[in-house]
Amino acid sequence: MAGIHVVDHPLVQHKISLMRDKMTGVKEFRELTSETAMLICYEATRDLPMKEITIETQGIAKTKVISGRKLAFVPILRAGLGLVDGVTSLIPAAKIGHIGIFCEPGTHDAVKYYSKMPDDIAEREVIVVDAMLATGTSAIAAIKDLKEMGVKSIKFLCILACPEGRDALLAAHPDVDIYCGGVDESLNEKGYIVPGLGDAGDRIFGTK
Ligand code: URA
Repeated sequence: MAGIHVVDHPLVQHKISLMRDKMTGVKEFRELTSETAMLICYEATRDLPMKEITIETQGIAKTKVISGRKLAFVPILRAGLGLVDGVTSLIPAAKIGHIGIFCEPGTHDAVKYYSKMPDDIAEREVIVVDAMLATGTSAIAAIKDLKEMGVKSIKFLCILACPEGRDALLAAHPDVDIYCGGVDESLNEKGYIVPGLGDAGDRIFGTK
């Protein structure tokens, strides 16, 4: 049974506080998104399987390396792109798939408008990344899509979540662990996390 993991490390909390500030500009917000994603990814990869190897140094060292399946990151467009630099700075060999999903106004149905995955996605451990886990609609749809492609092991990583998104995602995909820097109070009627940090996509790309 999976659950939510809040990374309460002081560096993560400090950086999210700076991101929340309306006065934080595009350049700094983008850098903070990437740095925070990297720190959360450090925790999200804590359970990667390892194997012992023997190497020759000044003597013979029995030491460990990561083993098992290779990784892929899948950012949900658009805001998820802001996390990619950070997570790939930790795992540069990871492949990257992209998925674009929007919510139909009115019905709130998830509509996929773009998907491009590595050919071997089904053999990889996948970490889906997005800035915010708000209603959970996009995350739920992206993960459903990946499961239909045969992916067996999926985690979800975001900067901030809220109770509504957390509960919806865990109910839809009880096997998927969520890693984030905080769970804020609530979701407002426009689908924004409160207090949150505003529209993460606009703040990362400077589109407002
Ligand atoms: N997406 C955002 O960018 N911000 C929110 O608060 C919720 C969804």
